[in-house]
Amino acid sequence: MLKLDKICVSFRRECQDKLFGHTKQQVLFDVSAEVKKGTCLGILGESGSGKSTMGRVLCGLLKPDSGTVFLNGVSVYGSKQGRKNLQDRLSIVFQDYTTSANPRFRVADILKEGLFVRQRRERKKLNQEKEIRRLLELVGLSYDFAGRFPHELSGGQLQRICIARAVACNPELILFDEAISSLDAHTQVQIMDLLLDLKEKLGLTYIFTTHDLTSITYLCDDVLFLYQGRVTEYLPVKQLSEAKDIYARKLLESIIVFDTEEAS
Ligand SMILES: Nc1ncnc2c1ncn2[C@@H]1O[C@H](COP(=O)(O)OP(=O)(O)OP(=O)(O)O)[C@@H](O)[C@H]1O
Ligand SMILES: [Mg+2]
Repeated sequence: MLKLDKICVSFRRECQDKLFGHTKQQVLFDVSAEVKKGTCLGILGESGSGKSTMGRVLCGLLKPDSGTVFLNGVSVYGSKQGRKNLQDRLSIVFQDYTTSANPRFRVADILKEGLFVRQRRERKKLNQEKEIRRLLELVGLSYDFAGRFPHELSGGQLQRICIARAVACNPELILFDEAISSLDAHTQVQIMDLLLDLKEKLGLTYIFTTHDLTSITYLCDDVLFLYQGRVTEYLPVKQLSEAKDIYARKLLESIIVFDTEEAS
């Protein structure tokens, strides 16, 4: 469905030692990956490894210096239409649910933001109340929540609302950028169960960035290890124990015990 081919990204950096100079700092080096329809691709890496940058390239927000992103065979950055095509099919859920929901909006209004996008795209009027009911039910909350403000919700409930808003625009693909990292372990599991349920019910495709390997094993079909902007390992989650890269193995050893001599 979505394919990245040899993506390179660099950012301009002002030079401290020269008065008017600037240098380029490359943050992604020849990154290639593929997200198949109905699957979940996990992007795993430490802070600063380039996960969010890769996410921004994947969802049409950041044009790479070189390399191509294809959606169903059409180049995303090749034309305006290519980028629009992707953005019409994609939603994003961020880590910081407290700032991604407007504190002055009630839950119903937050959900209407997503419904508005869908109405405009599908050029049809939706029954808002019915849709809000459906969305709240989908994320396991009752209709009573519709009138509440974000500060009247727990972190887990607010992240459910952000997920409902992402689903409201009827996407095919959702990018979760560290979307469960700020939640406690118990709530993380509940949200991951919700994500698995929604994926099944709505036939969604996911991209999930995180620095936590456990959530990758719970949620993803394939995993890509990013280290300092380079893909060091890319394999199906079922074959995780075959990972060879040193950094990947270090992470893995914290949750898997290898029986090979090499690991001891
Ligand atoms: N807009 C920007 N301008 C300049 N440098 C940037 C920009 N965005 C990211 N960077 C740099 O690119 C590198 C990768 O950043 P990125 O946000 O992709 O990392 P990350 O893996 O998502 O980290 P984290 O886990 O902390 O969210 C960092 O060194 C960062 O400083
Ligand atoms: Mg990030």
